[in-house]
Amino acid sequence: MQKPTTSLKLQRLDDVATLRLLEVQERVDFMVIIRLNRGHIKELAEVDAEAEHSLMVRYVKPTMRDHRERLVKRFNEGHEMFFGYKEDGILKGYITLKPFFPGHKHCEIYWLSIRKQYQGQRIGTKLISFVEKLAKRMGFRKIFLYTGKAMDGERKFYGKKGFRFINEFPGYYGFAAGPTTAVLYGKEL
Ligand SMILES: CC(C)(COP(=O)(O)OP(=O)(O)OC[C@H]1O[C@@H](n2cnc3c(N)ncnc32)[C@H](O)[C@@H]1OP(=O)(O)O)[C@@H](O)C(=O)NCCC(=O)NCCS
Repeated sequence: MQKPTTSLKLQRLDDVATLRLLEVQERVDFMVIIRLNRGHIKELAEVDAEAEHSLMVRYVKPTMRDHRERLVKRFNEGHEMFFGYKEDGILKGYITLKPFFPGHKHCEIYWLSIRKQYQGQRIGTKLISFVEKLAKRMGFRKIFLYTGKAMDGERKFYGKKGFRFINEFPGYYGFAAGPTTAVLYGKEL
């Protein structure tokens, strides 16, 4: 018998998520969290470039083209659901949810990126809270994320959002250069 492919499984989860998203979608006056697609790759690449991820800026120094190519690859892989925080017509930040993670009813926040000039305005907090509500409604029990061991500020941020340190994994952080120890954090939904 042919095994179902990951993308087929994701397609089904995606439909469920989209339906349920309508119930969770957050609208506060002029701010809205929206589902993003390939049509947003240019804006997403700008957000990644302007987020100035500390390890990327220091060790990888990606060009705008690198950012765009990474996003195209991620959309092609089809493992993430992308959500953006839009205010005054500007995509100020985005978050992605991977509805697969080892363990029973586990999922993962794969990416979170806010343009530098809008950091510190609770946009990261709102995006995390949105994805947690969505994941809970999709039936997930726990949510996980990896970050760099060397990323002290981001680790503090996730701690403030209720994520607890689980373990560290030498050589697991996903950039070609710089410190490569990843740390895993998790939270009950
Ligand atoms: C890390 C990031 C997602 C945080 O989003 P944000 O919208 O700036 O954060 P918020 O305004 O919601 O902050 C919530 C709390 O975390 C704290 N916090 C946020 N970033 C922090 C940092 N770098 N260092 C220390 N504390 C931080 C805030 O001070 C705030 O604390 P308070 O509740 O005591 O006032 C954002 O700064 C970012 O995009 N950074 C660059 C990309 C990146 O590193 N992404 C994560 C990769 S794992």
